[in-house]
Amino acid sequence: MLTLLAEATGTLWMPVKATDFASEVDWLFYFIYWVCVAMFTLILVLLVFFAWKYRQTDRDEVASGPTHSTALELGWSLPPLIVVLYIFWVGFKGGTQLAVEPDNPYDVTVIAYKWGWGFRYPGGYVDGKLHVPQGVPVRLTIESRDVIHSVSIPSMRIKKDAVPGRYTRMWFQTLEDLAEAGQPREFDLYCAEYCGTNHSQMLTKVVVHTQEDFDNWLEVASRWYLEEAPWKAGERIWEQKCAQCHSNQPGVTLQGPTWAGVYGTERPLASGGSVLMDAEYIRESIFTPQAKIVRGFEGVIMASYQGQISEAEVAAIVEYFRKLNPEKYDPTRISDSPEGWKELLGEN
Ligand code: CUA
Repeated sequence: MLTLLAEATGTLWMPVKATDFASEVDWLFYFIYWVCVAMFTLILVLLVFFAWKYRQTDRDEVASGPTHSTALELGWSLPPLIVVLYIFWVGFKGGTQLAVEPDNPYDVTVIAYKWGWGFRYPGGYVDGKLHVPQGVPVRLTIESRDVIHSVSIPSMRIKKDAVPGRYTRMWFQTLEDLAEAGQPREFDLYCAEYCGTNHSQMLTKVVVHTQEDFDNWLEVASRWYLEEAPWKAGERIWEQKCAQCHSNQPGVTLQGPTWAGVYGTERPLASGGSVLMDAEYIRESIFTPQAKIVRGFEGVIMASYQGQISEAEVAAIVEYFRKLNPEKYDPTRISDSPEGWKELLGEN
């Protein structure tokens, strides 16, 4: 019972184990740990023992100097060498396992940005959490929109940097049956590379589904926009992807300009002149943020959301902008229900 509890909650040193690989990592960790404990104890005991045995008893006594002992030297050289070689071997095996990708993995693209995550599934849908099928090899292709981040999933015992201008990859496979192993279905995913002001908030979840649940989830999630009113969807996207830097309160300035009360107004530009805050400008600012910078926000670098935000999501964000400026929001133009999407996306 206690062991089962420890398995499910992790230990003092290690988080829960969601992969077989985690058990191998932990084995090596504890091996090194106990070797250190044993060596520390041995050295401490000998230190005290020798200090006592060879203490000065006679002021005039002259002790003889050390002599050579081949047996002793071999004794303290060979066993540690064997231990170190063993540690290398286990580490090498684990490293190889991480480096060699399995055949036919499920592919997910990870997009890291200041300060959040996007996970793109085959078919193009991007989610804020990493959903994966259980017991299936999953390959992450990692990219960064701005600076170096690092994808860390402690319960899988894997971590890889997200480097701008380069793809990095890593893979993992959860246990065949997490429930049977007394494990939860959600695990933490962190950014493990200091990347600026909100680095500490750059965290999300890995959600593990059975294969069937996963397929259902992806299908429903990919049609997310049909489930709620457009402006409501926009609000949710804002929460997930934009709220770190853009407030929805009038007059509250975070890293970027507030979204409240600006739709349909003329915005002064850093380069001089002004621009009308309409759907076109919002879209441009999402995909090419540096094209027209509002005055006062020079030097604030926002990364492009190209490939991360779909056209339907842009439409939802625009509706949210409208909603945030009551003067310009016309509830008759687009209904406050999911039906509004038909109009927005030009569907019948
Ligand atoms: Cu991204 Cu720290």
